[in-house]
Amino acid sequence: MRQVGAELLESREILPGQWLQRYHAPALASGSRAGQFVHVRTGDLSGMVLRRPFSINTADMTSGTITIHFRTVGRGTEWFTHLRAGDSIDMLGPLGRPFEVDPRSRHLLLIAGGLGMAGVRALADEAIRDGRQVTLLFGAQRARDVYPTSLLPDEIEYVVATDDGSMGHHGYVTDLVPRYEAWADQAFACGPEPMLRGLARLAAGRRERLGVAKLGRKRGAGRGDPAGSPAARRKAFLQVSMEQRMGCAVGACLGCVVMATSGTPQRVCREGPVFAAEEIDWEGGWGR
Ligand code: FES
Repeated sequence: MRQVGAELLESREILPGQWLQRYHAPALASGSRAGQFVHVRTGDLSGMVLRRPFSINTADMTSGTITIHFRTVGRGTEWFTHLRAGDSIDMLGPLGRPFEVDPRSRHLLLIAGGLGMAGVRALADEAIRDGRQVTLLFGAQRARDVYPTSLLPDEIEYVVATDDGSMGHHGYVTDLVPRYEAWADQAFACGPEPMLRGLARLAAGRRERLGVAKLGRKRGAGRGDPAGSPAARRKAFLQVSMEQRMGCAVGACLGCVVMATSGTPQRVCREGPVFAAEEIDWEGGWGR
């Protein structure tokens, strides 16, 4: 983890109320993995002292830049939209644990709901770089909220669902998952809690539906890696990146806790934000 001064290079509103900003931060760009986040201070003039967590949307080691993608939801995030190229902000990162891709996985299914795109976006780049095939399912309320294809790598298959049917599939993004679950070796998701809960349910029934219990054993599912370890997460079909309010982002305040199926509280900022779906007690509710 490093604390750096990151210089803003570019800032633009890519969707109504959603911004993409590119920062020069070589130490973060070279040391981060998909799924991790930065904790950012709004600056002395804002009158706000709390940092804000942002997923590392993309990281480019060659140019030493990272991007963040956020929605304006209050004075803190609004403050960032007034920054101009050349301004610097204080970034702490990379924080949290990344997605764990099994080296044998060739087909990755990424699923994003709304701003959840920011949670999985970097994984698309990493996967393409590693020669994997990627299908990205994206859900939004309506066409005007759909993430632009121009901001995605050409190599991925991009499939859209909208709640009102104004673009792509009419319905939820989770409706699309059964079409791809036989193709996918692993799935990675970020989005609202009901979406993740629905996906966790689908993933739990996948082996039975597809009759792949033996394949699971072949991938080492029967061996006892401790829950939450990178090895155990690599064997999970579905990993989820969870969005929680954060205070400290370094594991001290316990403001971001969710419950695990083991009954152990998990800090989203330290043990997450990425978890294997089966680690989380979805019925007990997260964040309670
Ligand atoms: S935000 Fe403080 S423990 Fe996670």
